[in-house]
Amino acid sequence: MTATPAAGSPYGALTDQGAATNIAWHEATVDRAARAQQRGHRSAILWFTGLSGSGKSTLANALNAELFQRGLATYVLDGDNIRHGLCSDLGFTDADRVENIRRIGEVSKLFLDAGVIVLTAFVSPFRADRDRARALVEAGDFFEIHCAADLGVCEGRDPKGLYAKARAGVIKDFTGISSPYEVPEAPELRVDTGALSLEESVAAVVALLEARGVLQRLEA
Ligand code: ADX
Repeated sequence: MTATPAAGSPYGALTDQGAATNIAWHEATVDRAARAQQRGHRSAILWFTGLSGSGKSTLANALNAELFQRGLATYVLDGDNIRHGLCSDLGFTDADRVENIRRIGEVSKLFLDAGVIVLTAFVSPFRADRDRARALVEAGDFFEIHCAADLGVCEGRDPKGLYAKARAGVIKDFTGISSPYEVPEAPELRVDTGALSLEESVAAVVALLEARGVLQRLEA
């Protein structure tokens, strides 16, 4: 039997689909609200999605620096880095990408509970996977930000030479070339990272976060 966690659990209601048995939920004594109060701001998930080379990591890291400078608790989870550790067992088949994004959704949820503004920079090409990550948390905690530089721009940049390899058939299942990218239909923000400067892109996300109260300081 699977234990049902307390209402304040960052996992929500557990289902029986997990493999673990004989585990009980241990209720935390410090909750998300207490952490927000101590830090002076709420937490959020900023989910950047877009083609390889669309500027997700660049934008997430620049925004991270801006928020850090403002004294906010932030952290960047970046596809290229996470695939060296937590997800080093995964490749780029559809099934592996689904699992990659499932893990990142769960890890992001833990960061959210820990009171941190977490910025994720993953291609996350499948709509259903992004929607599953969104559904793990409350409405208003998840901001999908589409880095919308189109394929021509990304391939023209080809910062890692991967598009050339994909075109040559050296890399299989490459997003945009031999594997699909499902454009977000209703993201919280679409940033034209093909045309805007980095400063303009950062400003666009900051404006969104200000409008949604994420940067608002909480009273002690
Ligand atoms: S995701 O599809 O599972 O979300 P993720 O963001 O972790 O992908 O990793 C994408 C990064 O891995 C790209 O920026 C690129 O540098 C590299 N990469 C290597 N092979 C591929 C591939 N077949 N498709 C897409 N990206 C790849």
